[in-house]
Amino acid sequence: MSMEKKIQKRQLGVNGPLVSAIGLGTMGFGAFYGATNANVQEVLTCAADRGMTFWDCADVYGTSEDELGKWFETTGRRSEVFLATKFGAWDPEVPPPNPNSGPISKPFPVRNLSVPVEIVLESLRDFVESGQVKWIGLCECSIDTLRRAKALKGLGEKVIAVQMEYSPSELSIKENGFAEEATQLGLGIIAYSPLGRGLLSGRFRSRADFDANDLRLLLPRFSAENFSNNLELADKFKAIAAKYDGVTPSQVVLAWILAESPSFIPIPGCRSAERVEENAKSTELNLSPEDMDAIKDLVNAADVRGSRYPPSVLDSCQIDSLPLDAWSVSQSVKDVLQSLVDDGLVQADKIGSSNFFWSFPSQRGSMLQNRLNAVKDTHSDLQKQLAETKANMDKERSAREETDERAEALAELSSARAELASLEKEMSQYGSCDPVKLEAKRRAVTLGQEAAARWTDNVMLLQSYFTRQRGVDPGDVRQYLGIGEDFEDIC
Ligand SMILES: *[C@@H]1O[C@H](CO)[C@@H](O)[C@H](O)[C@H]1NC(C)=O
Ligand SMILES: *[C@@H]1O[C@H](CO)[C@@H](O)[C@H](O)[C@H]1NC(C)=O
Repeated sequence: MSMEKKIQKRQLGVNGPLVSAIGLGTMGFGAFYGATNANVQEVLTCAADRGMTFWDCADVYGTSEDELGKWFETTGRRSEVFLATKFGAWDPEVPPPNPNSGPISKPFPVRNLSVPVEIVLESLRDFVESGQVKWIGLCECSIDTLRRAKALKGLGEKVIAVQMEYSPSELSIKENGFAEEATQLGLGIIAYSPLGRGLLSGRFRSRADFDANDLRLLLPRFSAENFSNNLELADKFKAIAAKYDGVTPSQVVLAWILAESPSFIPIPGCRSAERVEENAKSTELNLSPEDMDAIKDLVNAADVRGSRYPPSVLDSCQIDSLPLDAWSVSQSVKDVLQSLVDDGLVQADKIGSSNFFWSFPSQRGSMLQNRLNAVKDTHSDLQKQLAETKANMDKERSAREETDERAEALAELSSARAELASLEKEMSQYGSCDPVKLEAKRRAVTLGQEAAARWTDNVMLLQSYFTRQRGVDPGDVRQYLGIGEDFEDIC
């Protein structure tokens, strides 16, 4: 192993481990920034030798994870590296972009936001408990989502970091208070794209400098309309760097981010040994107080044009995760099915695709409520009509002989009474339902029906299951398993 000087370290969140103060972003090895002819294995060795051992990856970075895996295998140096890798950015069934497959036509699969953060993290629990996952971080979430993650017993305390875009050209987490609140939650902030996806390095001067399949060609900041304007900020960093011997604009940017907050750990992507060294050296750079002030001013005055992503992608960034209770009906189905499996009542392989777990309707309860409301409205309208008819008749009775008109009115009265009586009967059926019990019954019945429909041969077992485990009256179960789809009529 090399005797080179090791990069400084920083603590990742208040409870986390020490990691290199600058991490290695590995996305560009396998995706998004065009093909690379870099010797990735060599770059990794160089980063490890320099102590830049906080490596960031994701399952959607094309071949990047495989490259890291290969390096661990061939060097046996896995234990030196603090490896962070992300999942869930999009459906793993969708093949990741391949830099060699021509221009990226659909580069922005939108994240599936229909799964609450609690459920996503729950999927890690086994790995956390077995020690395979030591810490947890979130990416592009809201503060509320972070709070919910932190509140999870047995998992929340492992949540030590959040990964967000931050650079002199992208300050929103600072401006909207996110960075401060995340720091108060004790989290480290992994600043991704700290060089503005290369913009601030000053190395890319026009769109022609990118490969045809480079993601940046699709980003508003690199559009023909905005790119040259945005280079002005890069040029200002270049002017500051020029005041120091052998210092690059990127190093000035990284040094500034490190100085911004001890919670920040930037992870610039780099695809060459030269860049590894350049980025590592930025931790040794001491900018003069005057230059720090100048940077502060130029960053505040920067006029960066275009958003960091196209609007469709921004829509899924920094937003709240689906509330858990919006999902809990489906989740209870999963629990029941899992306990049926655990009890040996149903074979796991009969459960089918995972969609089956999540796809149960949850709006039926509100259909029942709507119907009840409609009945109530009709009932009160009718009562009003009845009162009016009566009043009119009383008025007329004294003034008039018996006429056809009166007979008609009487007939109207008696039919209105009959209708009211039938509505009252229907209402009294609803009225006898305690809403909480009704919900419990409704759920048990839905679960029972759905399960029974799939495993009709297990009906007897299901009955005893619901009676024993869910505390549902056996009569109810027998009755309800037998009836048709329209469970609404079961009050
Ligand atoms: C998102 O995930 C849910 C739950 O797994 C699934 O039902 C839904 O089809 C997914 N939506 C998209 C757009 O992939
Ligand atoms: C360029 O920036 C402007 C101002 O922020 C923005 O409105 C526009 O959509 C951007 N252009 C492109 C092509 O994204």
